[in-house]
Parts: sequence; structure tokens; C-alpha cells
Amino acid sequence: MEKPLLPFSLQSRIQSLLDTAGASTVSLRTAREQLTQRYRMLQEKEPQSGFFSPHEAVAYIAARLPATFAAAKAVLPHVPLESVTSVLDLGAGPGTAALAAALHWPECKRLHLIEGDAFMSEVSQHLFKGVPEIAHQTFSFQHANLLTAPRDMTYDLVILSYVLNELSAEDQAKVLKKAWDHGEKGVVIVMPGTPTGYRQLMGLRDQLTGMGAFIAAPCPHHDACPLKAGDWCHFSTRLSRPSFHREIKGVSLPYEDEKFSFLVALRTPTPRASARVIRKPLQRSGHVTLDLCAKAGLTRQTISKRDKGRYKAATKVGWGDSWENT
Ligand SMILES: C[S@@+](CC[C@H](N)C(=O)[O-])C[C@H]1O[C@@H](n2cnc3c(N)ncnc32)[C@H](O)[C@@H]1O
Repeated sequence: MEKPLLPFSLQSRIQSLLDTAGASTVSLRTAREQLTQRYRMLQEKEPQSGFFSPHEAVAYIAARLPATFAAAKAVLPHVPLESVTSVLDLGAGPGTAALAAALHWPECKRLHLIEGDAFMSEVSQHLFKGVPEIAHQTFSFQHANLLTAPRDMTYDLVILSYVLNELSAEDQAKVLKKAWDHGEKGVVIVMPGTPTGYRQLMGLRDQLTGMGAFIAAPCPHHDACPLKAGDWCHFSTRLSRPSFHREIKGVSLPYEDEKFSFLVALRTPTPRASARVIRKPLQRSGHVTLDLCAKAGLTRQTISKRDKGRYKAATKVGWGDSWENT
């Protein structure tokens, strides 16, 4: 059975937000469809950020927060830092990545969220109140444009989750530069796991290495990405769908898979994977096949049951995990 990912108290806060939003399920579904349509257009046309109405913002929370939260939750274990005590969440939306960070690093005391949509920024403050798992942590909320917001403070980590893809290439570079300047230990970027998200991420990777960043994950090297044209590096996480999530999407399946791409860029080099599993491992009777990205480039390893130690490890390894048994 799928485990619920979101704290239950947050799920009930989202449910009451939906109940009091003054919108019928039908109009929220319409708002969600419009939003989805715009996200699809982002792939092809001019980037466009934000929400066109409070209903769209509420629809985003119900339809997308569980999935982007699951993606952030899947990415944070790839941050090889012993402790993270402060986080800046840029383009925070309802505070999805900040929430994942607060839960992942209970020692993180200070989390600051910057969000460009006034309604969304206000709603996130309301959502976070009274969630017991994060009650010991201090969240501050700023309604501002990432391009112009003055920022004096620095933070251990700056997270950009599903936001850079809403900006033009020029603005992505500006926001990433600011993020890098404000991250004392580094920056984490999460993007939709689409060809466009990946292509944009590769440009951002170049910018980060140009600024002296150490790419800790997912890449096991700093060389050019070895994937062939038409392929894209992405990962997948399965999440259980809360009832409000199923309701707004008009679906009955209790889970979905969220595809994402990501980068963890640090100021100080850390040990990193010798290889990364870049596709779902193929488990067959008697062997497991792993597609790997390694320092030497792309490799495919077939590990036979006869190779006991490595086979046992291979049956446990998942898409996105590191692989040391090369
Ligand atoms: C797709 S949502 C992602 C929200 C959240 N980070 C998540 O992972 O669920 C993108 C968010 O970035 C915000 N945003 C986009 N451009 C922005 C800008 N220039 N300044 C501030 N916020 C921005 C939008 O308002 C929206 O809430």
C-alpha cells in the first residue's frame, strides 16, 4: 500500500481550504485544467509564471502540491550535507519544498519562503499553522518577485522547485545567480522531468559549474551530459493521492508517478556516486539490468544471479540510486 506522504494535519488543512474556497468542484477542476494547459504550453511557447486567479492557486495546491512535494522529498536525500539549519525556498508557491526540507532536516530552524503570488503567499502561511511535525521550526513568508526582491540574509541551502521553468532563459540565469549568492552551502533545483525541463537544467548546470559549483547529484561527474539527443535525464517517484487530489483530478487510482529532474550544486566537494541508475532497473529471472551514468559515460550492466553479492545489491537498487558495484 502507498504510504501517505503529506502530514495528515496538512491534508486536512488543504481539504478545509477547498471546502471554504467558495468554489465548486467543477470550477476548481476547470481552473486546474486551465493551469495544466498553461504548463503544457510552457514547453513550447513563451514562459509564463504565476496564477491567473485564486481559484487557480487553490487548484494548484490540490492538484500539484502532493506531487511536487513528493519530488522534493525524493531529491533531498541526495543532498550530502551533514546538517542544514536554514533554507530559502524561491518561488515557494504553497511552500512545498520548504515543507519537504523542514521534514527532512528537523534541525533546520529557519525557513524563508519567497513567492510572487500574493494569494498563494498568504495561503501558505495559513496552511503551515498547526502542523505538529514542523511546529518547532520558524517559517517566514515574503510576497515578492524573485528578480527584484532584495535579500540580505544568507541560508545554508537555497531551493528552486518547479519555478525556473516558468522563467525566460535570461531570468533563469539571473535568479540562479542570486540563489547561488545566497546559498552558503549550495543550491538545489527541481524541474519537471520533461525534455524541456532537462534541457533547461543542463544550461543551469553549465552556469553553476561556471560559478565554481560542485555538482553532487545526480551527475557522477562534471563532464558534458553523455545522453544522446532526444533522451533526457529524469527520475520518478510514486505518491499516494489524498482524496482531495483524486477529487480535483477526477480520478480513482490511489497513486500516481511524478517525473522530475534535479541538480544538487554545492560549494564544497563531497564524495559522490561512482555511477547513477538512470532508468528503472529491469528485473528478469536470473539477472538484473542497470542503465548507468558513470564517469566513463553511459553503461549498461547485466548482473547475473550467479554473482551473488552484486545481484543482491542490484535487486535492491532503484531508479535514481547510486551504484557503487561497477
Ligand atoms: C509551479 S509553482 C511551484 C511552487 C513550489 N515551489 C512547488 O514546488 O510546488 C511556481 C511558483 O513560482 C512562483 N513564481 C514564478 N515566477 C516568480 C517570480 N518571478 N517571482 C516570485 N515567484 C515566482 C509562482 O507564483 C508559483 O507559485
